[in-house]
Amino acid sequence: MTGMTAAGAAISFEGVGKAFDGPGGAWIAALQDVTLQVEPGAICGIIGRSGAGKSTLLRMVNGLERPTAGTVTVAGHDVGRAGGAALRAIRREVGMIFQHFNLLASRTVAGNIALPLEIAGTPADPIRARVADLIARVGLDGLAGRYPAELSGGQKQRVGIARALATSPKVLLSDEATSALDPETTQTVLRLLADINRELGLTILLITHEMAVVRDIASHMAVIEGGRIVESGPTYDIFTRPTHLTTRSFLGGVTGLTLPAFIAGKMLDHRPDGPSEEVIRVTFAGTHATDPMLSKLATELGIASNILAGAIEEVGPHPFGNLLISVDAARGAEARAYLEQHGLLTEVLGHVR
Ligand SMILES: Nc1ncnc2c1ncn2[C@@H]1O[C@H](COP(=O)(O)OP(=O)(O)OP(=O)(O)O)[C@@H](O)[C@H]1O
Ligand SMILES: [Mg+2]
Repeated sequence: MTGMTAAGAAISFEGVGKAFDGPGGAWIAALQDVTLQVEPGAICGIIGRSGAGKSTLLRMVNGLERPTAGTVTVAGHDVGRAGGAALRAIRREVGMIFQHFNLLASRTVAGNIALPLEIAGTPADPIRARVADLIARVGLDGLAGRYPAELSGGQKQRVGIARALATSPKVLLSDEATSALDPETTQTVLRLLADINRELGLTILLITHEMAVVRDIASHMAVIEGGRIVESGPTYDIFTRPTHLTTRSFLGGVTGLTLPAFIAGKMLDHRPDGPSEEVIRVTFAGTHATDPMLSKLATELGIASNILAGAIEEVGPHPFGNLLISVDAARGAEARAYLEQHGLLTEVLGHVR
């Protein structure tokens, strides 16, 4: 994303807006001024609440929606202005998977996977060979003759993924593809997507409302709120230094950023008179994640800290963690300076008496 030009990007949004006709001639601005570049081979996660504009954004990449402002390109081709044969050619480069799989109930696993190839006019023999390859690729060996009703959710999504890959696209779009699956099945499907990304060099744009999905496979991410991108960049950077409130609220559940209720209810935004504690968020990134910094703070400076909440996680290959601590407010500045000197990030969240 960063430093990427539209020309070199797998997917590029430049100043994209989308307005729908609303009731009584009013307009609904589903997207406004969206600029985002996705590098070839990246897995870019778009996270936002319901109605934020995620699906609208995704559907522009394969021309299911057209922008009312700005430009959407796939591998340099202007999707928003393409029609007829040019649009069909772009669509063959873009596969899509869905929350509810969208399989044809009347077709078998093999029949569903073959569908895009039949539509593209591929002869029967190459279709059979390709479908057999895809079935093996997504781990559905032995299930070619089953119907969707005879499959688990995870198996159905594997069929969806194989079907999306049938025409050998360069880009895969995923609209909440794991939202209907249990956590364990979600993990296996995300692993499959990560393998496909790595082995086929496929660029993946996935939308989700779950930060854990972004954390587990996205190299890059963007946060969308009310039709605008409020924050974007490498996933690790955003997890370790979230700047927007929306991002922080999404992160709360996965990274120990949420204050326990008994503290949150007592928090003051200024230091009160008399003795008080300063509540500090400490972010550990990279190798510091496992350093015993708080015990060093106690032994080297004699500053005791209370741990209020915390979590250590992995984002891609990197460990990082957040700790919410409180220290005697009189020594807060000293404690923060010490932690910062040792490569940690700190932020004062407030004070408690
Ligand atoms: N065809 C349409 N006509 C009118 N308004 C639409 C249309 N499609 C979407 N919208 C509106 O645009 C906004 C964004 O919708 P979108 O489906 O992109 O949200 P989303 O982020 O995917 O939400 P969810 O997480 O619930 O799927 C919403 O206010 C929605 O009501
Ligand atoms: Mg949606």
